[in-house]
Amino acid sequence: MQTRSQGKKIVVLGTGGTIAGTAASPTDRAYVAAQKGVAELLAGLPLPQSFELVSEQVAQIDSKDMDLGVWQALLRRCQHWLAQPEVQSLVITHGTDTLEETAYLLQALLAPTKPVVLTCAMRPATAIDADGPQNLLDAFAVAAEPGAHGVVVVCAGRIHSAFDVQKAHTWQLDAFTSGEAGDLGQVVQGRVVLWRNWPVSAVEYAPDAIEKIANLATWPRVEIVLSHAAVTAATIDALVAPDVAARFGAPPVRGLVVAATGNGTLHQALEVALQRAVAQGVRVVRATRCAQGRVWPRPGDAWPDSQGLSPVKARLALMLSLV
Ligand code: SIN
Repeated sequence: MQTRSQGKKIVVLGTGGTIAGTAASPTDRAYVAAQKGVAELLAGLPLPQSFELVSEQVAQIDSKDMDLGVWQALLRRCQHWLAQPEVQSLVITHGTDTLEETAYLLQALLAPTKPVVLTCAMRPATAIDADGPQNLLDAFAVAAEPGAHGVVVVCAGRIHSAFDVQKAHTWQLDAFTSGEAGDLGQVVQGRVVLWRNWPVSAVEYAPDAIEKIANLATWPRVEIVLSHAAVTAATIDALVAPDVAARFGAPPVRGLVVAATGNGTLHQALEVALQRAVAQGVRVVRATRCAQGRVWPRPGDAWPDSQGLSPVKARLALMLSLV
């Protein structure tokens, strides 16, 4: 842990990602994520002098490999720091690939009344066009903003709510979208310009419930299945078969999120398999595989919809509801 200066604290938690990645040369497009420590990423940046800075390395991973242990460690550190009266806000450096899942998880569980700002980069720290330093400065602007609260993502000058943010591009620096909900705001030359309100959760978890989730050995197993042309029932039948789970040493499936077609429609082959799964006690939620829009409920719907959450976020919501 490293600290600097006096006053209210901004705590920076490092988890790895491209923002901490390195390549052999400034123009080399092949790089390895999660190489530089968070303190090194902050060194030399013109950060706000009015805050004491604390940095902590919670993990050092490529976020495609995000797992329960890292999420739990991050949850515990966030819970710890957010409870300190002298802490103004948290900044979390994270890979872009599962950023939206971590952001949603932290908002859903912590519903923080202080800002928790996740930031990232699409180019490694050693790149000639490294975007991490500016993203960090923008994240600090949001972290220092009076009245800010909730979990947000700051990338390419845009502020996204944890509920709506999705990685939408494989390569461009401005890789995230909030879809038709729209960005929360922008950071323009260090100033926060807000278009919408900061994120607020409908459900609030008690600190001991968060602690329990942060320490559970496993979370309820929820899988995502895709409805597509010529799909068969076999995938769902295999997923929910207790003997198959046991053979692979996996816990039984407790929930399924279907990334459905269009406005939540399912291939008839999946409908039948899902009915069998439900008869076994498996919970089913429908999200859409469409990049834009959400599943709008219709009278007589057989399966609950994901309330606007993408399949990966709906999976987390269902897991949390099953704990
Ligand atoms: C990662 O998600 O850790 C690697 C990719 C990225 O940060 O852009």
